[in-house]
Amino acid sequence: MKRVFSGVQPTGNIHIGNYLGALKQFVELQDDHQCIYCIVDMHAITVPQDPKALKEHILDVAALYLAVGIDPEKSIVFVQSDVPGHAELSWVLTCSSYTGELSRMTQFKDKSKNKESAPTGLFTYPVLMAADILLYDTDVVPVGNDQKQHIELCRDLATRVNGKYPGTFVVPDGRFLKEGARIMALDDPSKKMSKSAENIHSRISLLDEPSKIKKSIMKATTDSDGVIRLDTENKPGISNLLNIYSVLSETPVADLEKKYEGKGYGDFKKDLVEVTVDALTPIRERFEEIRHSEELMTILRDGAEKADEIARKTMKRVKENFGLGL
Ligand code: TYM
Repeated sequence: MKRVFSGVQPTGNIHIGNYLGALKQFVELQDDHQCIYCIVDMHAITVPQDPKALKEHILDVAALYLAVGIDPEKSIVFVQSDVPGHAELSWVLTCSSYTGELSRMTQFKDKSKNKESAPTGLFTYPVLMAADILLYDTDVVPVGNDQKQHIELCRDLATRVNGKYPGTFVVPDGRFLKEGARIMALDDPSKKMSKSAENIHSRISLLDEPSKIKKSIMKATTDSDGVIRLDTENKPGISNLLNIYSVLSETPVADLEKKYEGKGYGDFKKDLVEVTVDALTPIRERFEEIRHSEELMTILRDGAEKADEIARKTMKRVKENFGLGL
């Protein structure tokens, strides 16, 4: 069975972009892959965090993993900082990376724009991400499009190390969905939907109540020509809503275009509200059931143990190949 690894940062406001780009794939893959899903808390501290809130967000993401359908009987679910191998391998990979390639990462460029100096962790963030992936001999990494450049860097690092020390790493492939890979902000479809945007109506969070979902969708930016058609370049707002509708309802975009021929944006949006509420309500209900349960803690503890077992084997090989330790 091929091995899958992916992670989500515990920063609150997990939204339908995260769901449609990543989490939905996590669930689909677990029947015929060996899946490892991580809550990447060490990535979260690349920007300032309130310790209490961070702890809560770790458990929120863990509960959301289960609420969307990740099955701990099939998949390993754990918290990154519970497995020391991530930090250990990250250092080894840091020593195989170049400042030039890290400076070219667009996410780093965006986050450090107009700042005289940026936190080092923000700069080396993609190396830690590569360590996450390579630590588990991962074959497939399901992610949204915004992580493409980081996956490429991970592949480059693995290939570079293998060139020097053959057989050290498995070179992984990214897995991107066609329609969910880049969900845009509802208030500005030129930007991707993000957890940190100030306007809460720019996103639909997985735990939003129906009234909030309705408000955000009805307010979503469209255009003035009134035709429901996928045209990302000229009609980015309605194209984004079509993508969301298509993935949530598992209906091809072409069928939706036919269904809404001659109809207005108002009708389309009303139906999208219904589809979204129907998709998110069971997730919210399941989340409430498990978020404060002892079961959640047990799953994370068991998950860390299983992950650590795999990680130790990889680190043993890595240290041997690099000549580290006794
Ligand atoms: P994060 O926490 O920002 O996002 C989690 C996942 O959601 C995807 N995503 C989106 N997909 C579609 N449309 C959007 N608007 C959208 N916004 C986010 C992301 O691509 C991601 O798959 N660096 C990663 C976390 C990470 C990781 C890893 C992922 C750390 N180590 C190892 C895979 C493998 C991140 O910040 O994701």
